[in-house]
Amino acid sequence: MTAPSKANIHPTIVPMGKLPPLGVLPEKMHAWVIRPERFGEPEQAMQLEEMPLWDIGPDEVIVQVMAAGINYNAIWAGLGEPVNILKSHGLPFHIAGSDASGVVWKVGSKVRNWKVGDEVIIHCNHLVEAGTSDLQTIWGYETPDGSFAQFTRAQGQQLLPKPKDLSWEEAASYGLVYFTAHRMLIDRAELQPGEDVLVWGGGGGLGVFGIQLCKAAGARAIAVVSSEEKAELARELGAYGVINRKDFPNLQYYPDETPEQKKARFADMKAFGKKIWEILGEKKSVEVVFEHVGQRTFPASVWLASKYGRVVICGATTGFELTFDVRHLWMSQKRIIGSHFADADSAGRANKLVQQGLVKPVLTETFAWKDIAKAHAKMHANEVYGTIAALVGAPRPGLKNFEETLAVMNEGA
Ligand SMILES: NC(=O)c1ccc[n+]([C@@H]2O[C@H](COP(=O)([O-])OP(=O)(O)OC[C@H]3O[C@@H](n4cnc5c(N)ncnc54)[C@H](OP(=O)(O)O)[C@@H]3O)[C@@H](O)[C@H]2O)c1
Repeated sequence: MTAPSKANIHPTIVPMGKLPPLGVLPEKMHAWVIRPERFGEPEQAMQLEEMPLWDIGPDEVIVQVMAAGINYNAIWAGLGEPVNILKSHGLPFHIAGSDASGVVWKVGSKVRNWKVGDEVIIHCNHLVEAGTSDLQTIWGYETPDGSFAQFTRAQGQQLLPKPKDLSWEEAASYGLVYFTAHRMLIDRAELQPGEDVLVWGGGGGLGVFGIQLCKAAGARAIAVVSSEEKAELARELGAYGVINRKDFPNLQYYPDETPEQKKARFADMKAFGKKIWEILGEKKSVEVVFEHVGQRTFPASVWLASKYGRVVICGATTGFELTFDVRHLWMSQKRIIGSHFADADSAGRANKLVQQGLVKPVLTETFAWKDIAKAHAKMHANEVYGTIAALVGAPRPGLKNFEETLAVMNEGA
C-alpha cells in the first residue's frame, strides 16, 4: 500500500460544499481520520483532518465522493477491535468508509470501462492484485483510502453504475449491506422459491435487504426485531411474519450462563419455535437462518433451522466466540455457511435489481458531513434502523446527478 502523494497538482484545498473543475485534483482534502493513538468509540477515534490526495496505480480511479454510507466498518476500525486493522495496510492513519456514490475524477491508464465524469457507486470488494487474484480485502476497512473524505481511491473493478433515479445519499446507502445480504442468501445459501427464512435484525442494515431478497426470490421471510417501529418497516418491506425478540428475553446466550439460565433459554427457544409454527400455520421450521448477530443468537439459530437447514452467517455483532449444541447440527444434518461481502459479479447482479426497482434502498436518516462520527456512535448504540448515510460533497440531500449538483453549488456561490 503506497502512502498518499504529495505531488502538487493544484495548490489549494477545496472547502466542503465546493468542487474543483472536473478532473482537477487539489493538493489536499478534508477527511475523517482514525489513528491508533485515539482508538475508542467513534467520536473519539474519528477526527477531521486535512490529508494529501492519493496516488493511483494503472487499475485505480479517484472518485469525488458525493455521499457515503455508514456501516459497522469504521466502528470496528476505530475501536481497534477485533483487530488493529491499520496493520493490514501499514499506514499510521486510516480513512474509513466502505460505501460511496460520486463522480469519477481520475482514471488509471488500464481502466477501460469508466471515464472522468461517470456517476458511480463503489462496491467494497478490493482485490489484492486487480485482475490477477480473487483474494478480497474490504476497501475502506482493510485499505486506508475509504469514502469519508472529499476524494477516495478505488479499483476500476469496484465501480458500478449509480441507479439514475436515486439521490446521491440513497445510492451510497445500500452497497455493503445489500451486496452482503444478496451474496448470503442467493449465492451462498442458494435460497429457493417456497423456502422460509428467519431474518435476525430484520430492521437493520442487512436485514432490510434480507427481507426484500426473500420476497424477490419467492421465499417467505420471518423478521426478528426489537421494536414496533422496526416491525412496521419489516412488514412494509414484505416480511411474511414478524417476531419481537423482546417477547423472548431468555433466548439470548451468555457464555457465563447458570444452569437455571440455560433451562430458561431452552424454554424460550421452544416458545420461539412455536411462534414460527404459528406464523407459518404449520409445524415446520425455517430452511434458512440469516445470521449476523453472533454469540447471543447462534445456539438458537442452529436449533431453529429445519432438518437439512442452512445457517448462513457473515458477522457477529454480539460476540465472535460462538457456541451451540453440535448434536442439533449433526443429527438433523444442518449446515453452517460462512459468507463475506460479495465479488464484483455478485455485486453487479445485485445492483441490477436496484436499477430495475425490484429492491429499494431503505435510507432512514441522512447526516451532514460534520456529523459522520456522531452517526457511527448512533449505529454502535443500536439506535438506528434500515441504513443511514452522510453527505460528503453533495451540498444538500435529494440531488441525483452531477449537473444538478453543480447547478445547486453555483446557486450558493
Ligand atoms: N462480512 C461481511 O461482509 C459483513 C457485511 C455487512 C455487515 N457485517 C456485519 O453484520 C453485522 C450487522 O450489520 P448491520 O449493518 O445489519 O448492522 P445494524 O444495522 O446495526 O443491524 C444489526 C441488527 O442486529 C440486531 N441485534 C443487535 N443485537 C441483537 C441481539 N442481542 N439479539 C438479536 N438481534 C440483535 C438489531 O436488531 P433488533 O435490535 O431490532 O433485534 C439490529 O437491527 C455487523 O456485525 C457487521 O459488522 C458483515
